[in-house]
Amino acid sequence: MEINLLSPASFAAGHPQDQYSWLREHAPCYWHETTDGDGFWAVTRYAEVRAIGRDPQRFSSEPTIMIEDPEPGLFDDGVHKMMLMMDPPSHTTYRKLISREFTQGPAAAMAPWIEDFAKQIVDAVIDKGQCDFMQDVAGEMPSYVIAKLMGLPLDDGRKLYALTETIHSAVETLPPGAPGEAVAAMFGYGQRIIEEKRAQPADDLASRLLAAEIDGKRLDDVDFLLFFLLLIDAGGDTTRNLLGSALLVLLDHPEILQALREDPDRWLAPVRNECLRYCSPVTYMRRRATEDVEIAGRRVRAGQRVVLYYGAANRDERVFADPHRFDPTRNPNPHLAFGGGTHVCLGQHVARIEIDLMLREVVTRMHDIALAGEPEWLASNFISGPRVLPVTFRG
Ligand code: HEM
Repeated sequence: MEINLLSPASFAAGHPQDQYSWLREHAPCYWHETTDGDGFWAVTRYAEVRAIGRDPQRFSSEPTIMIEDPEPGLFDDGVHKMMLMMDPPSHTTYRKLISREFTQGPAAAMAPWIEDFAKQIVDAVIDKGQCDFMQDVAGEMPSYVIAKLMGLPLDDGRKLYALTETIHSAVETLPPGAPGEAVAAMFGYGQRIIEEKRAQPADDLASRLLAAEIDGKRLDDVDFLLFFLLLIDAGGDTTRNLLGSALLVLLDHPEILQALREDPDRWLAPVRNECLRYCSPVTYMRRRATEDVEIAGRRVRAGQRVVLYYGAANRDERVFADPHRFDPTRNPNPHLAFGGGTHVCLGQHVARIEIDLMLREVVTRMHDIALAGEPEWLASNFISGPRVLPVTFRG
């Protein structure tokens, strides 16, 4: 089996489940070569992926959670860091600043306006009879939600979201300099928000972040910008791609689509959980071993990169019976699509509400929904999901 978990080609039609299966069976902690001369360990079984995510002492999120080390100055200027790339105790301090806003209660309180968004999104396409599901439906939801949370014009959410797509795409598929320009554009926008919200604070997350203090000191502009980028980035492509992948899976399983349409209250939660397991929008998170350690029988040296493949762990036959079967009746369904441990997805409750309300609107209102062309997948080894998904339907 040829293993290549770096090439976007391996992800051109979704997760490379054939490679994952081989790895889980023969090399659950596999030394993967890279072109920068230094390799990484690819971890593909559920038990190890779960345990490593919960062990920040031995598996650090610094300097980054991407396989490639960061370009100096982009995400890490030596003083500031993005919370996703911090370890305790600073991670704990930063996460606490916003974690209360994202717990189950506050997330549930967002449901009424998220439901309104879902209705508006379907209203905007329903009479056309056709659309690109990714751009016109799935992508609209997270960009509206983040704009509303941050107190920005809804249309700006859309523009920011387009930038995240560039940031997540494989460098070789983009014009030279595009990712850096996208990050710079995002920061430029964030800087204008800082000025606006400082001058006129409102009841929104951006204003609260700007007023937040650590050890009696306000967050500075770069701290704010990194939070801003993280929230837009983490909540955008992930939710969008899950919605797109979910539609593809449902079209492949018409009996489940029908059950969901007939009794959404009964089926939404189990279908959504199984979509998260089966589609796993986040391909991987990387850690760095802080000491020599053994993983699945291999000796990992301090300093080496260890990459956790969620889409592989979520198909591990040791945990999920008949793992390649899409089965919403699976119970329990302890998938790792939101990661686990100290960095477990902060937006998971919001994401579940977005997914449920959007799916409900789609399946109950977009009748006879069908593919109208080949789906095109995001060229990324980091985020998995369709980029273009042409569909037809009846209103
Ligand atoms: C289907 C949708 C989503 C998926 C699959 C997903 C997945 C993930 C994963 C795998 C992680 C890293 C966990 C780890 O390293 O252990 C993460 C972190 C995070 N997610 Fe999500 N996410 C989704 C939606 C969202 C949404 C809607 C938001 C915000 C509104 C969000 C905000 C965050 C943040 C802020 C972090 C960093 C947490 C930390 O470093 O402590 N995510 N997410």
